[in-house]
Amino acid sequence: MNQIKITVDAIRAMKSRGEKIAALTAYDFPMTKLLDEAGIPFIHVGDSLGMVVLGYPDTTHVTMADMEHHMRAAARAQPKALLGADMPYRSYETPADAVKNARRLVAAGAEFVKAEGGRGILEQVRAIVSAGIPFCGHLGMLPQHVVEEGGYHVKGKKEPEHQALLDDAQALADAGAFAIVLELVTPPVANELTKALPIPTIGIGSGPDCDGQILVTSDLIGMFPWFTPRFVKPQVNCAPEIKAAVAAWKNSLG
Ligand code: KIV
Repeated sequence: MNQIKITVDAIRAMKSRGEKIAALTAYDFPMTKLLDEAGIPFIHVGDSLGMVVLGYPDTTHVTMADMEHHMRAAARAQPKALLGADMPYRSYETPADAVKNARRLVAAGAEFVKAEGGRGILEQVRAIVSAGIPFCGHLGMLPQHVVEEGGYHVKGKKEPEHQALLDDAQALADAGAFAIVLELVTPPVANELTKALPIPTIGIGSGPDCDGQILVTSDLIGMFPWFTPRFVKPQVNCAPEIKAAVAAWKNSLG
């Protein structure tokens, strides 16, 4: 097996070759190891862990300490995959905070950090990139803003939103982001951004035309049956399998 470590440059090169980037989330050692062994090149310790692991209603409750704890667990798998982490809610309010907290995530094992927003966080992005830390953008529906936005809404349908996405994406690319996650962006706008940008777009609920796709692994494998986003088709339903296995073992006790 080819054990060459996947870098940010390798992910960018996949766009140039037209090779789709498969990206998934992991929050601990075993899942990171399993995804890596399955050949996933981009593994992300997302703050979605707030919902699918920690039981919070949204990502705004996730702290730096939560992210560091899960980042360290994932990093112990020493994946060949590029391994990154989300900067949690309010951890990048100023450029100084952004660099300080991005460094904490790097110390915990992150090879890149991701934060939500475009031109509004450009100074923070520039500061992170200047500190030598690879940065992944996140545009479209921004889960850390779910409370003020009153839900998870598709972005790019209206012309001002379309133009804002184009301007934000270009600004992030100019500031040195190596990739941009597009969440719940209308497929035509995601397609347009993918064609316009020199860096990879990684879509989630944004249609098939992005350079890559990312999913929350718990959704993909049916591990969080209480809510599945409409754009995810689980490949396996782990939750009923676990319940059946546990019930069978219980019954075997007599
Ligand atoms: O929090 C997360 O897991 C994410 C990805 C799904 C993009 O941001």
